Amino acid sequence: MNILTILGSPRKNGNTAGVLEMVEKELSDRHQVERLAICSMKVNGCLGCGACQKVADQPGCVQKDDAVAIFERMMAADAVIYSSPLYCWDFSAQMKALIDRHFCLVTGYGTANHRSLIADKPTALLVTCGGPVKGNADVIQTVFSRVCQYGKARAVNKTVIPFCTTPDALGEDARAAARKLAGDINGALRQ
Ligand SMILES: Cc1cc2nc3c(=O)[nH]c(=O)nc-3n(C[C@H](O)[C@H](O)[C@H](O)COP(=O)(O)O)c2cc1C
Repeated sequence: MNILTILGSPRKNGNTAGVLEMVEKELSDRHQVERLAICSMKVNGCLGCGACQKVADQPGCVQKDDAVAIFERMMAADAVIYSSPLYCWDFSAQMKALIDRHFCLVTGYGTANHRSLIADKPTALLVTCGGPVKGNADVIQTVFSRVCQYGKARAVNKTVIPFCTTPDALGEDARAAARKLAGDINGALRQ
């Protein structure tokens, strides 16, 4: 199966990339894994124009940047892993722009006609941060859950790696968490 991973860190070889690579290695035995690094792509913030809400069967965004290409890869993938460093208790700005742009994947939110172009897709969240989980990396997990509900996607794992310093200091805890994340994606794909 095809798994898409999205790196939301501006540091291509940082902590988030390091743990994401562990996850990808766990999955690559059985699956095709493709990584997109948002920082090498152009993803503007949502304009809030609402034009996309008139288009239900494709991402109807008016902006001609890389977001729609990312969404097309997401739609084609069997599972999507979102990864981000924790920035001020939330996603990096680069990942937040992509999250906001999910608006164009969803129509009829809050009505009986709620539709999403990523409905039922297994998703996972991977976060690295310098501090603890409690009272620090809780908001980002709530946001992710809500975005998945909004997109009718299936959040199968939310992983936070706390107390990160440098990528070479990532240890057995990170490796075990990466294994668990990969296992949860595998479990969802077997269903
Ligand atoms: C702008 C900025 C904001 C940050 N905010 C937080 C934060 O709110 N909580 C935290 O624990 N760590 C915070 N950090 C630390 C990063 O989350 C942490 O170093 C992370 O592992 C960096 O990932 P990377 O190496 O992939 O860039 C922040 C770092 C930066 C640069």
